[in-house]
Order: sequence, then structure tokens, then C-alpha cells
Amino acid sequence: MKNKITNIKVCAFDAYGTCFDINSAAKVIKNKIGKSWLAFSNTWRTTQLEYTWLRSLMRNHADFWKITKDSLNYAMKEHNVNKKYTNELLKLYKQLEVYPELKETLLYLKKKKIKTCILSNGTPKLLDQLTKKAKIEKLFDSLISIEKIKIYKPDPRVYKLVTSKYSCKSGEVCFLSSNSWDVVGSRSFGFQSIWVNRVNKNFDVLDFKPKKTISDLAQLKKLI
Ligand code: LAC
Repeated sequence: MKNKITNIKVCAFDAYGTCFDINSAAKVIKNKIGKSWLAFSNTWRTTQLEYTWLRSLMRNHADFWKITKDSLNYAMKEHNVNKKYTNELLKLYKQLEVYPELKETLLYLKKKKIKTCILSNGTPKLLDQLTKKAKIEKLFDSLISIEKIKIYKPDPRVYKLVTSKYSCKSGEVCFLSSNSWDVVGSRSFGFQSIWVNRVNKNFDVLDFKPKKTISDLAQLKKLI
């Protein structure tokens, strides 16, 4: 079929924002944080990503958990959030809500005999905790963390972790991410990437476009 993505051996999923709702931590205690909880959550996320890029450029790696704590510290100052909520927010970040359609999507791919993995900046421990909390750990064939190479997305070596693990070509990987810059990085590497545009954003202007765009993971069934 013309509209389908074909020749796929592996479906690799980004974790944060794609499988797990990154705003769900701040949302749980939004009454304590106040009206600006979402702006605060957005600053936490954008700072977290900036720190991954900066540390990779500086060749000064710190794992994703340290970066998550450091960026939280910054975001709390920026939005005048009381520091007494630090531990509560960090605990919630270890058990972010899973997007409800992920499970059925993974089951569908299993039926199709397509390998499934997570490819994430998150540490192995964080990915383990998140998938166990969501009771989906058995539905992934592997959880691939950048900690193996200590360099963050979108370095091409990150995407190579998938093709090395599954001994396949880059064009045989379907990568799903809600982060448009991550889609760009993976397209540049040669993946057949799908942008999960959950909140109607504009795609980055960085030379590469997604192979397809969907608004949630359930729509993957129409493409594979
Ligand atoms: C990840 C971040 C980039 O899971 O969302 O790698």
C-alpha cells in the first residue's frame, strides 16, 4: 500500500514525551505549584534538553538523572517554585504516566513480528523503573540507553546503537519520537522516522522532515 511504511525490522521509541508524559510529574502537584505549573514544567524540560546538548558539546558527560535534577533546580528558581517540593517532583519523575495507547501499539507490533525497543537519553535504571511502573517492560525487546556511549541525542552514534543491536540497516528502523529535533537527528542517520505530534506543534526547520506524522501512537497501526 502506498501510504504504508515498509521493510521495517525494528520499531524504536523515544521515551520522554513519546511513551511517557513528561508533564505528568508537575501536574500531580499543580495545586502546590500554582498557576504557572505548566510553564515551570516546560522550563524544566527545555533546560534538561539544553543541558544534554551542552554537556555533549563540552565532552563533560553527566547522566540523565543528574541533568534532570540540575534542570529542576534551575526551573524552580526561574518560576519561584518552593525548593521543598524537589524530592516529591523527582520521585514523580521516576514514575511518569505512560500514554494509554502505547500498550496496544506494542502488542500490535509483536503480532507483526517487528522488534520493539526504547532508545533514550534516560539511564538504564530510569528506563527500567518507568517501564516496570507502567507494566510494559515485557513488551519491549530491549531498553537502549545512551549511557552505553555517554553521548546524548542527536549524535549519530546514538542512533547507531539500534542498528548495531539488531544487525540491521538504518532504513529498516522505524523510529518514533514526539521531539521534532530527535526525528531530524534520526532521519539524518537514515531511519524511517515518524513524528508523534501530540500537541499540534510546528516541525523544526533543520533540513530533514519526518517520513510520516501522527498525533498519537495508536495511529501507527495504519502505517505498519
Ligand atoms: C529521550 C528524550 C530525548 O527519551 O526524550 O531520549
